[in-house]
Amino acid sequence: MYVRPAAATAAAFLGFTLTLLGGTAQAAAPGPGTASPAGPATRRAEVGEPVVYAHRGAAAYAPENTLDSIDLARRLGFDWVENDVQRTKDGELVVIHDDTLARTTDVEQVFPDRKPWRVKDFTAAEIARLDAGSWFGEEYAGAFVPTLREYLDRVQGNRQKLLLEIKNPGLYPGIEEQTLKVLGEAGWLDERHVSQRLVVQSFSADSVRIVHGLRPDLVTAFLGTPTVPDLPKYAEFTDRINPWHTTISADWVAAVHGLRGPHGKAMEVDTWTVDDAATARKVQAMGVDGIITNAPDVVRDAVGGV
Ligand code: G3P
Ligand code: CA
Repeated sequence: MYVRPAAATAAAFLGFTLTLLGGTAQAAAPGPGTASPAGPATRRAEVGEPVVYAHRGAAAYAPENTLDSIDLARRLGFDWVENDVQRTKDGELVVIHDDTLARTTDVEQVFPDRKPWRVKDFTAAEIARLDAGSWFGEEYAGAFVPTLREYLDRVQGNRQKLLLEIKNPGLYPGIEEQTLKVLGEAGWLDERHVSQRLVVQSFSADSVRIVHGLRPDLVTAFLGTPTVPDLPKYAEFTDRINPWHTTISADWVAAVHGLRGPHGKAMEVDTWTVDDAATARKVQAMGVDGIITNAPDVVRDAVGGV
């Protein structure tokens, strides 16, 4: 039986209107995609070290995308955590990376006849029964797959900040609107959160564009490495380009920084997934603004940043 109280906020997402989202106006000028002569002075990395994001929580040390992982990130001293959001069969948003439950839960033991154990084929109540911690270590037995609402409430309780990834949006029509609805219900769409505590990202440019259209005030990021000639198109709807670290160079980072995003600020770069000191120093030297890492303490020791 699915009993966690926060889960009672099951997704009544169909039919809600955009006005519920209450978007506010974005900065007007200069326009997106234009050159950014004053931009570099306003980027985060110019005033200190790169921002360090605890990927899926501190996923090197605790089971990814669980409340334990963000609690551990908090204890290690990290404000920013990253997660992955998908949707259950009955419309609940949950925090999990893979599109199946097999790798990070005991679903094969609990539901042996439900192969291939896709997230979208299980109800929230069924997923709530699963152990999402024992695969990582017995000390984490009992960890569960959190709903997005449960996760947001814990991040808030920890006074942390969230880099939220909409994962596999092609599998979940309308997940952008639904994610914003849950964020709003949890108090994450007020001015303070939007301006300082929340970034929404996706590998899907369409998904990022939809989020930007629904809430133009939100900071968004596209996961990938567009070519330099294509960057101005991305600058129309996203503030950041977040690439795999092996795909970038200092010149490419500079090209991103040279453009203004939809809020009139220089575009920024947060790269992933960097778990060793040498690579952290390498991408820092390229000028990245943030580093997304499973081992945030290792990166902090190498390049500073929190
Ligand atoms: O935040 C960047 C990173 O999470 C993207 O890759 O597969 O770990 O979600 P993945
Ligand atoms: Ca992710």
